[in-house]
Parts: sequence; structure tokens; C-alpha cells
Amino acid sequence: MIDRIEQLRSEAEGEIGAAATSEELEQLRVRFLGRKAELPQLLRGVAQLDPAERGKVGAAANAARQALEALIEERTAQLAAAELSAGLVHDAVDVTLPGAPAQPLGSLHVLTSTRRELEDIFLGLGFTVMEGPEIETVHYNFDALNHSPTHPARARTDTFYVQRSGEGPEVVLRTHTSPMQVRAMEAHPPPLYVVIPGRVYRPDSDATHTPQFHQIEGLAVDEDITLADLKGTLLSFARAVFGETRDVRLRPHFFPFTEPSVEVDVSCFHCSGKGFMADGSRCPLCKGEGWLEVLGAGEVDPNVFAFVPTTAANAPGYDPEKVQGFAWGLGVERIAMLKHGVPDLRMYFENDLRLLGQF
Ligand code: PHE
Repeated sequence: MIDRIEQLRSEAEGEIGAAATSEELEQLRVRFLGRKAELPQLLRGVAQLDPAERGKVGAAANAARQALEALIEERTAQLAAAELSAGLVHDAVDVTLPGAPAQPLGSLHVLTSTRRELEDIFLGLGFTVMEGPEIETVHYNFDALNHSPTHPARARTDTFYVQRSGEGPEVVLRTHTSPMQVRAMEAHPPPLYVVIPGRVYRPDSDATHTPQFHQIEGLAVDEDITLADLKGTLLSFARAVFGETRDVRLRPHFFPFTEPSVEVDVSCFHCSGKGFMADGSRCPLCKGEGWLEVLGAGEVDPNVFAFVPTTAANAPGYDPEKVQGFAWGLGVERIAMLKHGVPDLRMYFENDLRLLGQF
């Protein structure tokens, strides 16, 4: 019997020593030391043995069980440590690797960045920025801007009407930012230096017109304002946008709310105003003109001041005998088209990432 015990012990020792995983080890524990295993059974039978043998067999079996238990415990610790370090190696995170690449953030729409650039230029010249309603009364959009009752811009084909007369005041989608001239003067006394960026609407659609587009209105009212002040202001603007060597020229024009009225050209930045390129070919940007039309402007018509009621907010009011002013309206799309060579105005609103991603 002692032999059998020693045989079981050495068999178990061999297998426990060779166990490769803690799972295998658990199976061996059940096989050699579990309730139905041979060694524990044997131990339970010791009491029935001859007294002579009982002591020796009992001691050998006990020693074998204790030895195997100790061995399993030791082996369990070894395997657990090995499995832990294998796990750590496998799950290792290399904290020195670069992080996940930053996701692209996108960029401002080119019309937004152009508008902000223009606002900054005029802020630098001492103007403040105001905004106004896109849904506007005919009073501010036309009447107070000195448009005659039969002015063609009032036609249904040239203006989006929201509400016709009869149901209260006539209401339109503003066709320009100029209605804010009178609103700004109603709200603030002179001297006044404001720019008004915003969306405007006209029923047009082709390569150079979209039904919705953006303007920046400018209005300066003070004493002793002349056309020279307008020209100087717009020269600073033209140089800031198109380059330090640009020039501006004023051509006579007509707007109902300015007198005199002008169209303003900037010398072409593509051919430096020459109209032709180094190889003698015609400049493709200004079409040989040497000048690019950028905006409409003029001296504020005294009739417009007369449309500004004196209120508590703008006291002492706008007396045409005392104050003069100049105003301009520029198209943000047009400036951005010239600057960036965008060939078709509609491209700004198609949301094609191949265009938007370039800015
Ligand atoms: N409102 C005019 C337009 O949209 C532009 C303009 C503004 C002209 C201010 C003169 C003075 O065409």
C-alpha cells in the first residue's frame, strides 16, 4: 500500500510539474486530491487497516497529500504570475506612440471669411458694425431711400414681395442693405460711421446673380464730408483687399439715394492695371480694361436725411443743412470671386467640398 501511495505521489508530482495552465492544474487537483480520487479514498480507509500498518500507511498518505497540496499551491502561484505577465505583454499600450490623428475641423465658408476680412478693414478705419432685418418694409427699402413711386426696382419681377399693400405695410425681402441707412440714422445721432453686412434678395439667377447674396453697406455722416472722403476710404479698402499698389477711380452713375452717385473701379490686380499680360496678351480678369468694377457709392442725397425723423434716440437729428454723408454698397460674392478667381457665383451655394475645402 505504501508503494501505491509513493507511485501516486510521483505520478502526480510529474504531472503537476508539467501542467502548463491554471486550468490544467485544477483538473489535476480534482484527479489526485478530489473527493473521489484514490489518495483521499485511501486516507479515509486507514481506520480499517491493521493497527500495525495503520500508522505507517496513514503517515505516508498524509505526507503525500500535503506534499501534493503544497506543490499545487506553488505551481498555481507560478502559473498565475506567468499568465499575468503574458497578459500584460499582450495588452501592452505604448504610451510613447503618437495619438490618433486629429480629425479635420472644417473651415469657414469663403463668404464668411471674406465678410469678416472686410468688416475688419472698416473697423480699422473707425466704422462700427450694425445689422438689420432681412424682411423689410417698402418704406425703408424704397420710399425713405428716395425712390420714385414708379422706380423699376419696385416691380414684382425685381423684388420678392412678402406682403402687398392692403394687409398693412408693404413688406419685401430687402433688395439691398441700404434700408439700414435710415434705420441707423434713426437710432443714432450724427456723427455716424457704420457698416452693415447682411443677406439681400433679388429674383435673378445666372452665373453672376443668385436670388440671395451678401452686401456690406457703408454709411458715414458728419460735418464737412466730401466725395474726397469717400474716395480715400474706398482707396484704403481697395488696397487692404487687393494690394498696396492698387488705385481706385470713380465713374458717374445713378442711385436714387445718393447725389452725386458713382460706380467705383479698382485697378486690376492681375495685370497691375495695364490691361495686358507680360506676353502681350489681353488680361483675362479685367478683359483688357485695366479696371475692375467693385461697388456702387455716392454722397448721401439730402432728401434721404429729410426722411429721417428726429427722435429722442437720434436728437438733434439729421439736418440736411448741417450734415453731409457718403455711402456705398458692395457685394461680398463679387469681391470673393475677384480675389479667388471663382468663375460662377452659384458655386458658393452648391456646398461642393471640392470648392469649400480650398479656403
Ligand atoms: N444699394 C445699392 C445697390 O444695391 C448700392 C449702393 C449703396 C449705392 C449705397 C450707393 C450707396 O445697388
